[in-house]
Amino acid sequence: MRIDVATVFPDYLAPVHQSVVGRAISAGIIDFATHDPRDATTDRHRTVDDAPFGGGPGMVMMAEPWAATLDPLVQDDPLVVVPTPSGRPFTQRIAERYAAESHLVIACGRYEGIDARVWEHYRADGIRIEEVSIGDYVLAGGEPAALVIIEAVARLLPGVLGNDESAADDSFGADRPYALEGPVYTRPREWRGLAVPEILLSGDHARIEQWRRDQSEVRTRTHRPDLAP
Ligand code: 6GU
Repeated sequence: MRIDVATVFPDYLAPVHQSVVGRAISAGIIDFATHDPRDATTDRHRTVDDAPFGGGPGMVMMAEPWAATLDPLVQDDPLVVVPTPSGRPFTQRIAERYAAESHLVIACGRYEGIDARVWEHYRADGIRIEEVSIGDYVLAGGEPAALVIIEAVARLLPGVLGNDESAADDSFGADRPYALEGPVYTRPREWRGLAVPEILLSGDHARIEQWRRDQSEVRTRTHRPDLAP
């Protein structure tokens, strides 16, 4: 999969080179690049933003530097993802859909967003544009959301996770009756006077699975009653 990120803060994306996503890039599973709209400006101050028409606070990112950046990136009909607090909620189901794409372009606005005509223009050309939000809070820019989206998608790609860390069994995984995973334990068996639940040491895999399902139900009903079946 190819992933291009357009941002005026390309260094913000440096963490993609860590951990799971970093290994996927090194292994050639993900072909990753950033693109700075400032590099597409022609004025001395490399201006990418201006005051909003109609007035109001903040600055709006200008259409032309964004289009000049995105034009060469949309030639092969990628899915263009625009992180914005006014987008549709980003979910595990959406991550699964993105993981089936061959090319994602993530366009990170700062300030009050990007001139809306950019998306109007590309949609009229048949380019698929999706505006997504990663939660009900406001970030200063889309870059941390891009990191979130990239990590959620990357770990679903074949060859990125090891065999024993199947994504289908994660919280929100497709194969779970309840959305959230319950608690987990490792050695030592007793720590600061606290024992690991006896059932997990029993070797009885059917009862262990039933216990995990019960814990998953409790966790889901307690933390996310909205997700309980
Ligand atoms: Cl995707 N972008 C920004 N700037 N803020 C957000 C967000 C995205 N999701 C929640 N808040």
